[in-house]
Amino acid sequence: MIEFEIQLAEQRKSAQEREALLADPGFGQVFTEHMITIEWDADRGWHDAKLRSYGPLSLDPATKVFHYAQELFEGLKAYRQPDGSIVSFRPQANAARFNTSCDRMAMPRLPEETFVKALELLVDADRDWVPTREGHSLYLRPFIIATETGMGVNYPSTKYLFCVIASPSASYFSGAIKPVSVWLSRDYTRAAPGGTGFAKCGGNYAAAFVAQQEAVAKGCDQVVWLDAAEHRWVEEMGGMNLFFVYGTGPDARVVTPPTAGTILPGITRDSLLKLAPELGVPVSEEPISVEQWRDDVASGALTEVFACGTAAVITPVGRVKGEEGEFTISEEGGPVTMRLREELVGIQYGRRPDPYGWITRL
Ligand code: PLP
Ligand code: COI
Repeated sequence: MIEFEIQLAEQRKSAQEREALLADPGFGQVFTEHMITIEWDADRGWHDAKLRSYGPLSLDPATKVFHYAQELFEGLKAYRQPDGSIVSFRPQANAARFNTSCDRMAMPRLPEETFVKALELLVDADRDWVPTREGHSLYLRPFIIATETGMGVNYPSTKYLFCVIASPSASYFSGAIKPVSVWLSRDYTRAAPGGTGFAKCGGNYAAAFVAQQEAVAKGCDQVVWLDAAEHRWVEEMGGMNLFFVYGTGPDARVVTPPTAGTILPGITRDSLLKLAPELGVPVSEEPISVEQWRDDVASGALTEVFACGTAAVITPVGRVKGEEGEFTISEEGGPVTMRLREELVGIQYGRRPDPYGWITRL
């Protein structure tokens, strides 16, 4: 594996300054004192791997990433355990998805062990920045950008920079676990077959801001994306996958749309597909239309809806609004949503056993 050069930061924050920042970190606002960088070029492959001080990157204005958005990222968290140690949740799955995204964006793959090693080194250097309060965590953001200078668009960049930064964070939705409201976007499309929906490239998010703005203008928290062809089949949210709970008590089962190339295959989604059956809740991957969503809520068959993702964890969806009107699912998180959340979070924070081997010590 590639050797990392370790350059620890000379200037460190005092414990008091750090504690002040950790008291109320928000999401993605505060950054630690180090970062990882690894370079790639066509001649040398991956080289110059470093742990170094967090700080600005200096790039020529003609660097390809600025013009053609050849960029992608990952998102995962480091969690403080009751004994003070630090773990992450399925980092190998993020490494694998990173490489799937790289393939789609014509970028070089990074060996999975290098990806995980980069996380380990960064967390080790910035251990004091991993929050101790449950619900808070150190959000890790690996990303890769095209660094070749020049505006030719007939070939991908021949140079790249892989970087990992870390941000102590509260959960993405502030406050208690209160249901979010969602806007069904009919005017905009996030992903079409053959496009980049399954890849975690920045362009997907750039193209989503306008729909998110529309959702907020309509009084909703988040946008729900529908399929490109009919604007009828539910896909996902801006940074989360969606689950639908049918029935109640021992008859409850959960449904999530199949990813099919246009939906980001969430690691939280995949984990819940494994976890729910263990808790006696059968799962299936089935398409669900907005009409079915509305009608099944009205008939009482569809009892809960929740969104899930690394940043959002598991968040109930309370109200749905679209051009044709709106309806309410529930004023609070339902029992299946909260049970799955408790189980997942319990594994991540070391309060529950980890029979699946999802936890990796950092
Ligand atoms: N969908 C989108 C568009 C996302 O950005 C994310 C977040 O990473 C997810 C779903 C959930 O994925 P994961 O559970 O791997 O965080
Ligand atoms: C994540 O959950 O890791 C995400 O990437 C969601 C969002 C902040 C982009």
